[in-house]
Amino acid sequence: MTTTSKRLSGRRIIVTGAASGIGAATSRLFARQGAKVMLFDHAVERLAPIAEETGGTPFIVDVRDSAAVNIAVAKVAEENDGLDGLVNAAGIIVSGTLAETTDDIWQRVLEVNLFGTFYLCRAAMPYLQKADNSTIVNISSGAALVPSSGSPSYAASKGGVIAFTKAIAMTCGPEVRVNAIAPGLVDTPLIRDRNEGQIPAGSHERYALKRIAKPEEIADAILFLTGPESAFVTGITLPVDGGRTYH
Ligand SMILES: NC(=O)c1ccc[n+]([C@@H]2O[C@H](COP(=O)([O-])OP(=O)(O)OC[C@H]3O[C@@H](n4cnc5c(N)ncnc54)[C@H](O)[C@@H]3O)[C@@H](O)[C@H]2O)c1
Repeated sequence: MTTTSKRLSGRRIIVTGAASGIGAATSRLFARQGAKVMLFDHAVERLAPIAEETGGTPFIVDVRDSAAVNIAVAKVAEENDGLDGLVNAAGIIVSGTLAETTDDIWQRVLEVNLFGTFYLCRAAMPYLQKADNSTIVNISSGAALVPSSGSPSYAASKGGVIAFTKAIAMTCGPEVRVNAIAPGLVDTPLIRDRNEGQIPAGSHERYALKRIAKPEEIADAILFLTGPESAFVTGITLPVDGGRTYH
């Protein structure tokens, strides 16, 4: 038995949020594992270096725009003669208590995190159902499993991702497996950009492993749910959170 074979050889996979953090780490890992990655993001400047590094194809797409999503997904499938996988990692967070959550914040967070995930899944599904062993991995959050008071819009959007994942896993099987991941805190620009470049002090204390994750550790879990080792797994939300949510 060889241990050198690539786990995603020849698979055609869309990764959203590919320009940064978890999406970028996933794109790099998937490319190393033999996948042809299609990199969706709206951050034009940050997408180009990831495309160069991975050999992936960049698509400037705002996941809130369902028409643009439909066009981009159809183009990917047409140019590559099909589609085998989707990872929904585009996301935003806006902090604030309930009273501080304006209509605009609520709408923006839900539109990117939940509507965007829905638009991508709906657009990709007809192509995924024609492929063998196809998969979707949606990125939820520990904030959906054990919400803090800091961002009700984020918690609601990520809770929605979990319920949506279960709902479509049931109706889109057996052709397509659909799973979610609930990361704890991960060292990415999503966290640092809101804290003057720092990880919030003391955040690791709630974690059994006493540290936060690297984006590559979330990418490893996404690879598991996309690859053949998880062939009998669908509809789950896998916490990858160093023990933050089990207690
Ligand atoms: N970092 C964490 O601690 C953490 C924890 C749990 C869950 N998550 C989730 O993981 C996912 C990835 O987060 P990250 O930490 O890598 O963040 P990040 O900010 O590093 O990357 C998010 C990417 O999404 C893109 N994006 C945002 N809005 C978009 C839109 N409308 N259209 C297209 N692209 C858009 C951004 O340009 C960026 O490249 C998000 O869904 C996030 O909520 C992150």
